[in-house]
Amino acid sequence: MHDFSRLVDDRPADGVFRVHRDAFRDPAVFDREMAVFFEQGWCFVGHASQVANPHDFLSVRIGRRPLILMRDGEGVLRCVHNSCRHKGALVCHNRQGNKRSHVCQYHGWAYGSNGRNILVKDKAQGCYAAGFDADSHDLLPVGRFAEYRGFLFASLSAEVEPLEDYLGDARALIDLAVDQAPAGLELVAGTVHYTFRANWKLQLENSTDAYHFTSTHPSYLRLLDRRATMPERTDVQKAIWQADRKQQEQMGSFGLRSGHAMVWTTSPVEHHPLYAQRDALVERVGAIRADWMMRTRQLNIFPNLQLASNAALQMRVITPVAVDLTEMTSYCLAPVGETPEQRRQRLRQYEDFFNPSGLATPDDTVTYEDCQRSFASGEIEWQQGYARGLARVERGPDEHALQLGISPETSVSGNFDMSDETVFHALYRHWVGKMGEAAA
Ligand code: FES
Ligand SMILES: [Fe+2]
Repeated sequence: MHDFSRLVDDRPADGVFRVHRDAFRDPAVFDREMAVFFEQGWCFVGHASQVANPHDFLSVRIGRRPLILMRDGEGVLRCVHNSCRHKGALVCHNRQGNKRSHVCQYHGWAYGSNGRNILVKDKAQGCYAAGFDADSHDLLPVGRFAEYRGFLFASLSAEVEPLEDYLGDARALIDLAVDQAPAGLELVAGTVHYTFRANWKLQLENSTDAYHFTSTHPSYLRLLDRRATMPERTDVQKAIWQADRKQQEQMGSFGLRSGHAMVWTTSPVEHHPLYAQRDALVERVGAIRADWMMRTRQLNIFPNLQLASNAALQMRVITPVAVDLTEMTSYCLAPVGETPEQRRQRLRQYEDFFNPSGLATPDDTVTYEDCQRSFASGEIEWQQGYARGLARVERGPDEHALQLGISPETSVSGNFDMSDETVFHALYRHWVGKMGEAAA
C-alpha cells in the first residue's frame, strides 16, 4: 500500500515545505487523485450561461467520467452520466447543442432532456419479464449537483459536504468577479481546447506563481516595453500590465480551506477596463470591493477551475487525462450587456495573453513539459519551489483578508518581487490530507 502522506514535507517550525516529485510522476498517485478528488469530491462542470435555454446540453467530464449537463423543458439544470443504461454506449456525442431527446445509437433507447428514459425500442415485442420494469432506465444523475452564482459544480459521490461549505471563503472571491457586472457574467461564444504533456497540478500551481512571470515570459515583457513607446495605442496595447511599473506593485496571496487559493497584485488602475465606470462601481459595491475588482486576481477553485481576472476575465477548466497528460478548456467571461466596443476590446486583450495562440500560454505549457521530462530523474526527490515568503507568511487572515471579510488559512503580502510561493501550501495541505485519508 502506498503511503501518500510522505509526499508533502510540511514542517513550519523548521521553515520547511517541500513536495515530492512522485506527486507529479507516479501513476499510482494519479489513480488515487482521480478516486479522491475527481470521483468523490466537488468539481466544476460548467457555467449556467452555457446551457441557458430549455433543452440545451453540454458534454463535460469530471476526470475520466463522461457526463451531460443539461437544462430540461422546465428550465431545471441537471447533470447525468453520459452512459446508456442498456449497454453503456455514450448517449451524447456532441460537445454542446439543443435537443429535446437524446437517442442512443446502439439499440435506440431514448432519453428526455431531463435524463428520463422515454423509449425502450420495440419494448412490446421484447418479452421482458416483470423485473425489468422495477429497475430505473433513466440516465444516472450525479451524486450531488449545485450552483454558486452561475458556476455549476457536481460530485459523483453523494457523500460530500454542501457546496457552500466546500467553497467557503472562495465564494467572496468568486463574488468579486461576478459583481463587477451589474447584470452578471456570461461566457463569450467560442471555446479553446488544448493539451500539454505534463501533470495537471503544474497548471494549478502556475497560475498563482508570480515568481515565473519575468523569466518565463521575456518576449511578452519586451513587447509591452515596445508598445509603451508606440505613439498610437490600440486595444491590446492598453494591457494593464506595464513591465516597467510591475516591480513597484504590491502582491499577496490567500491560501484557503479545501485547497483553494488566490494571488492578487495591484496594477495601474487607469488601464483597467472597469476604471471608466469607477464611480458607478463604488456606488454599487463600495470603495473597498471596487478597489479589489481592479486588482489582478488569479483564483484557483480546487481541483479544476481557474478564474484569471486582469484586463480580461478568463475561465480555465483542467481535465487530467493521465499522470503526464492534461487537457485544458479555456473561455472568455464577460459582463452581460457590455457595448460592442467594450466586448471588442475585451476579446483583443483576452487573445493577447491567453491560449495557445496568445503571447504567454505557450511559454507556460512548454515549461510544464520541460518539468515533466526532467521528473524522470528519479534521483531527485524533492521540489524546492514552495519556500518564498515562508519567513513572512501569516497563519490566518492578514489586513487584506480582513478587508474582504475572509479567513484564509494563510495570508501574505509584500512587494511584487517577493513573488510568494506559500500560496501553494493550502493546496498541498488539502491534497495530502485527503490522499493520506484514502490510503488509511
Ligand atoms: S447501449 Fe444504448 S440502446 Fe443499447
Ligand atoms: Fe505564465
